[in-house]
Amino acid sequence: MMNDLKYVMYDENQLAKRVAELGEEITRDYEGKDLVMVCILKGSTVFFADLIRQVKLPMNIEFMTASSYGSATVSSGTVTVKSDLDEKIRGKDVLLVEDIVDSGRTLKFVRDDMSSKGVASIRIATLLNKPERRVTDVKVEYTGFVIPDEFVVGYGLDYDQAYRNLPVVGVLKPEIYTK
Ligand code: IMP
Ligand code: MG
Repeated sequence: MMNDLKYVMYDENQLAKRVAELGEEITRDYEGKDLVMVCILKGSTVFFADLIRQVKLPMNIEFMTASSYGSATVSSGTVTVKSDLDEKIRGKDVLLVEDIVDSGRTLKFVRDDMSSKGVASIRIATLLNKPERRVTDVKVEYTGFVIPDEFVVGYGLDYDQAYRNLPVVGVLKPEIYTK
């Protein structure tokens, strides 16, 4: 799998260091709150598992499916959400955890949808942020790394459902997704 990468953008040490920093920041901000961290499947699973262990506070965890992508590298523009969280997040301080904010359509939709469900507060943490690609005005409170407009895989991120288990974040060789 590593041979399919053009280059490694963030290695395991860089990822661990940044996730620990985010965890410290979240720990400070959510002291005394009623925290629920929500993993947006499937891309955030790896980041989520590492991040929750760096937040030194009591919390609940929940999972939901939300995506605006088809199977390839182009956004479909339609957001699909699968969740049964309504009761579980009422009155809680919700922190949505996403792998990457690209167009912003997914999180804009989820954030607006959840805001209408009686939560105490709602914020977003993303490992990666591609501001150049944004088409909505969604607010993101915690960002691991701001990256250029390149398609990345690994550490939970996929190309056509593959590469999620790569321990690094890297850029695929163009011949992989043009073939
Ligand atoms: P958005 O709604 O356009 O912000 O899409 C966000 C979703 O698109 C993410 O949760 C990813 O699943 C997917 N995505 C966006 N950019 C990339 C990328 O560079 N690599 C892998 N998946 C990506
Ligand atoms: Mg994806």
